Amino acid sequence: MSDNQRHVAMITGGNSGIGFATATKLAAQGFHVILASRNQQASAQAITRILAGNPNAAVESIPLDLASFASVRQCVSLFQAKDYPLHILINNAGGSVPGKEARFTEDGFEMTFGTNHLGHFLFTNLLLENLKQSAPARVITVSSELHNPAYARGPGPDFDLDNLKGEKYYDPQVFYRTSKLANMWFAYELQRRLMGTGVTSNAVCPGFVPAAIAARRKSSIERFFYAQIMARMPFARSLEQASDSYMVAATNPRFEGVGGKFIVDGQEKRSSDESYDEQKARRLWEMSWEWCGLDEIHSS
Ligand SMILES: NC(=O)c1ccc[n+]([C@@H]2O[C@H](COP(=O)([O-])OP(=O)(O)OC[C@H]3O[C@@H](n4cnc5c(N)ncnc54)[C@H](OP(=O)(O)O)[C@@H]3O)[C@@H](O)[C@H]2O)c1
Repeated sequence: MSDNQRHVAMITGGNSGIGFATATKLAAQGFHVILASRNQQASAQAITRILAGNPNAAVESIPLDLASFASVRQCVSLFQAKDYPLHILINNAGGSVPGKEARFTEDGFEMTFGTNHLGHFLFTNLLLENLKQSAPARVITVSSELHNPAYARGPGPDFDLDNLKGEKYYDPQVFYRTSKLANMWFAYELQRRLMGTGVTSNAVCPGFVPAAIAARRKSSIERFFYAQIMARMPFARSLEQASDSYMVAATNPRFEGVGGKFIVDGQEKRSSDESYDEQKARRLWEMSWEWCGLDEIHSS
């Protein structure tokens, strides 16, 4: 397949974990894959690994730090300068920031919310014209079942405008769950705004993936615990299974033209009641638009 016949898929954080497993599968299916990722050395190694298994793969990397609006804009500019179409955008990067103290993005937002939600909000909005011009196209935003207070023990998400930066309290797990609720609101609201454009927006949960968690742990005991013990639990998903879920959302004909869904294990699933609150989703959209400075960009 010549390079200009390939469909183009961009994935944030595609150089490790579930993102890398997905990038490998997209390349195997003949997509031109762009890894939009923070660590360029890890991206170079990821590209080498993909090419080793598939010498005909088309894969490249563009630097992206979602915790910096300037970096997000720079990544989009570099992508747009290449004049590629964009058929699939997978907003995968992120995770939870450990520690008792809140940390902040370059632009002053709490790190987990700023990276998982705001960085992707700006990134996707800046790429919308590219997606529309390449339609049919799909946006997949990686959330988690943890956005649902009924899922797992412990405190659920708490979208409190007066505590978005940890002004009242900071709990990394709550902030992670809140960021994943924001991902749900974003994915659903984006679908409403994209009606009739040929671009769809869905949310995905990869399931609990101990292999990806193990790779991040510094302690060898913790790595062993996740990779050897948790990975054997019946509710655990392998990198293979988790990336299959992304692939269903990204490429399966079953989801052609279908948006506004939450996809888990390759199947549609109902998300939390709060995630369907259109008023809250719209409010978050409008605030995120302002926080990301999109008014200034769109009026300039
Ligand atoms: N693993 C699970 O059990 C699980 C469950 C539910 C949902 N998820 C979601 O699945 C997605 C992928 O997670 P994973 O488990 O595959 O984790 P992972 O291996 O830690 O991958 C996360 C990726 O995000 C990137 N990233 C983090 N902060 C970034 C930033 N500021 N700018 C750009 N890239 C950034 C990381 O880049 P660096 O290498 O530079 O750090 C890495 O490539 C995440 O959205 C996570 O919340 C995971």
